[in-house]
Amino acid sequence: MPSPSPARMHDFEVVSNEKIAEGIFSLVILAPRLASALKPGQFVNIRIPGDASELLRIPLSYVSSDAEAGTVELWYAVVGNGTRRMSAWEPGFKSDLLGPGGHGWSAPEGCRRALVVGGGIGVPPVLCLARELASAGVRVDACFGAASGDKLVGVHEFEGLGCGEIRIATDDGTAGFAGFVTEPASELLASGAYDYVATCGPGIMMSKVAEAATSAGVFCEASLERMMSCGFGACSTCNVETTDGMKGACMCGPVFDATKVVVW
Ligand SMILES: Cc1cc2nc3c(=O)[nH]c(=O)nc-3n(C[C@H](O)[C@H](O)[C@H](O)COP(=O)(O)OP(=O)(O)OC[C@H]3O[C@@H](n4cnc5c(N)ncnc54)[C@H](O)[C@@H]3O)c2cc1C
Ligand code: FES
Repeated sequence: MPSPSPARMHDFEVVSNEKIAEGIFSLVILAPRLASALKPGQFVNIRIPGDASELLRIPLSYVSSDAEAGTVELWYAVVGNGTRRMSAWEPGFKSDLLGPGGHGWSAPEGCRRALVVGGGIGVPPVLCLARELASAGVRVDACFGAASGDKLVGVHEFEGLGCGEIRIATDDGTAGFAGFVTEPASELLASGAYDYVATCGPGIMMSKVAEAATSAGVFCEASLERMMSCGFGACSTCNVETTDGMKGACMCGPVFDATKVVVW
């Protein structure tokens, strides 16, 4: 049984909302109680007011939070009506959200070297984790990619963390390695140097990272995306098939032990 949802309602105000790559925006919000409650890997469920036909909130992972300033930064891809309307928000715009949702990453005790692997808009939760691990003295290597160089996010941020190795991949070869990020990730994992792997991105990418981690005997966690209607355990729209049965991603995830995921 999952424990009760840690999510609470928070009003927020937009501090900034800027394009950071093709089709991708950084949203910084002022929400002081939330900023000190979030843990890497958790998510928030945001209300997009203004269209009565759209009742569902939008689940987003967060990239960073600043408890002192009371701010939280989120990166989102514009994919549909909700995120398109969100991209028009100006500083000062007000709405509310439910959060923190779910539980975050659980790097093993004594972890000394970790690999994070992010694909597309799956970068935010692994970047957030990388920051926490790096500040705890863990050596973090990062592999991340996107369809093309103009859609790549996180380069400066990973560089700023002092990651040991950074490998970038793009499907069309316009930045870094030409191909899927799973290739450099598998290469690094084969070195046998890691205690922990964390991944977020397309299902097929995460399943390949999980396979490579299993071959290397490394504990791997993955943050899964599912449609979410309520975000707090009431509707079952977010079910993930696992070896322990169906588990709701909003309460038992979104981070799962990769060896337990049956359907990515
Ligand atoms: C735990 C979690 C964390 C997430 N973190 C991020 C993040 O940090 N940044 C980010 O850009 N996106 C993230 N997403 C995905 C994001 O929630 C969806 O892209 C968003 O809800 C789309 O809303 P929309 O109204 O713009 O699109 P819609 O018009 O609702 O849908 C457009 C397309 O996106 C698909 N879609 C809609 N909602 C989801 C969803 N929840 N998961 C997967 N596909 C969806 C639809 O099937 C459709 O193909 C996350 C999802 C989950 C579950
Ligand atoms: S979104 Fe409703 S139970 Fe998970």
